[in-house]
Order: sequence, then C-alpha cells, then structure tokens
Amino acid sequence: MSERSGIKSVMAEIAPSILAADFARLGEAVEAVERGGAAIIHVDVMDGHFVPNITMGLPIVRSLARVTRLPLDAHLMIAEPARYVAQFAEAGARMVSVHVEAETHLHRTLMEIKRHGALAGVAINPATPLVLLEEALPYADYVVLMAVNPGFSGQAFIPTTIDKLRRLRRMIVERRVATRIEVDGGIELENAAEVAAAGADIIVAATAVFDSADPAEAVRKLREAAVQWV
Ligand code: DX5
Ligand code: ZN
Repeated sequence: MSERSGIKSVMAEIAPSILAADFARLGEAVEAVERGGAAIIHVDVMDGHFVPNITMGLPIVRSLARVTRLPLDAHLMIAEPARYVAQFAEAGARMVSVHVEAETHLHRTLMEIKRHGALAGVAINPATPLVLLEEALPYADYVVLMAVNPGFSGQAFIPTTIDKLRRLRRMIVERRVATRIEVDGGIELENAAEVAAAGADIIVAATAVFDSADPAEAVRKLREAAVQWV
C-alpha cells in the first residue's frame, strides 16, 4: 500500500462476456456481474461461418435487455453483418460492433448502427493491420481489438496485442478522435493491469469471470487491477 498515495484513477471498465456463463442461467449471471461492478455486458454473436462456432443471437439480446440496465454490447462475429445491425440495435444492444474483415462498406454500416441509436464499433482480428481501420476511426465510437482469434472463450492472450494496443492508442491521439478501445480475449487477473496501462478503455473477460467460483468477486478484482494509484 505504500506506493499508493491516495488518488485512484480508473484506467479501464470491465465488460464480462456471457460466452463462458451457464446459458440456462443467464439472468443470474448478469445479475452477479452487475453486483461486482461490471460496466457493460458483452454478448458474443457467432454464425459458424465467419468464425468456426455458433453461439447466440437476437432473442438472447432481447431477453437480457429486459433484465439489466447495463449496456449490452453485441460483438458480431458474423458474415455480412450489415444485414443484422439494425435488428441488434432494435433488440436492445446499445453497442454493436462489426468486424473490419467481414464488412466491405464499413462507413455505411457504422452510420447505420448509429442511425438506430447504438454506439458503433469496429472489431479487428489479431493478424489484421490497424491501417485497415484508420479511416473509419472518426465514425467509430469504439474499436474491439482482438487479443485472440475470435471463435471461443478460454484462449491464451496473444502477447503482440500489447504493442498493437499502444499503436492504436497513438493513432487515436494523433487523429484527435474520441474512439474508445475495447480489448477482447485472454484477459485475466494476471494481465488486466498491463492491458489497462497500455491503453484499453474497456476490458472484456469471459473465462476469468464466469469460470470462477464467484463471478461478482472476479469482476471486483479485475476492476481493482484496472485502476492506478497516482
Ligand atoms: C472470442 C470472443 C470473446 C471471448 C473472450 O471470440 O469474442 O469475447 O468471449 O473469452 P475469454 O475472456 O475467455 O478469452
Ligand atoms: Zn467478444
């Protein structure tokens, strides 16, 4: 405690991903992380086409929107996302992200998300260069920087993400845009502080939260790791 002089500044908010929760008890899962201080609920939508897994879709967003006041963040890991963004916003997602790799007309799709009242995000895979989203930054409310190849929870954090995150932060500062950075995949208590310090505004965590005995406490600990004492 001696290094803590008393001013606590929050570096990143926590967005638990329900992908690792018990799907038969999603309401309880959301209630627990809300108690733990979660800021956002991350909903991983997969189509078995853009990624090799099928997860959940509109009905789950609709149901969750009725039981939580937290913003629902729909991470669309689907082909042709433009066909669905309006429906996700209307279902109650207050944040909707599409993959830069899946969308040819990114500007149009981001504007479409906003037109439906949600925050618009661009997600980017680990091996996709940042330059591909540079021109979209002024229109994107947030970037979902993938630290794993999308498709599954419980994968290991790809270490080069830290450098990519720093470069993205620099790009945002240099271009004077207000885009926030959400980092997604492989984040646990051990690396949350490093990810927050490298420039993340939002930290997504599935396994670290829902594979623990006490998800509320897991969120509390991640929050504590994502603050700095100055
Ligand atoms: C990966 C998903 C992530 C995933 C994170 O395809 O986009 O949001 O749920 O899971 P963990 O935190 O276990 O890596
Ligand atoms: Zn995700």
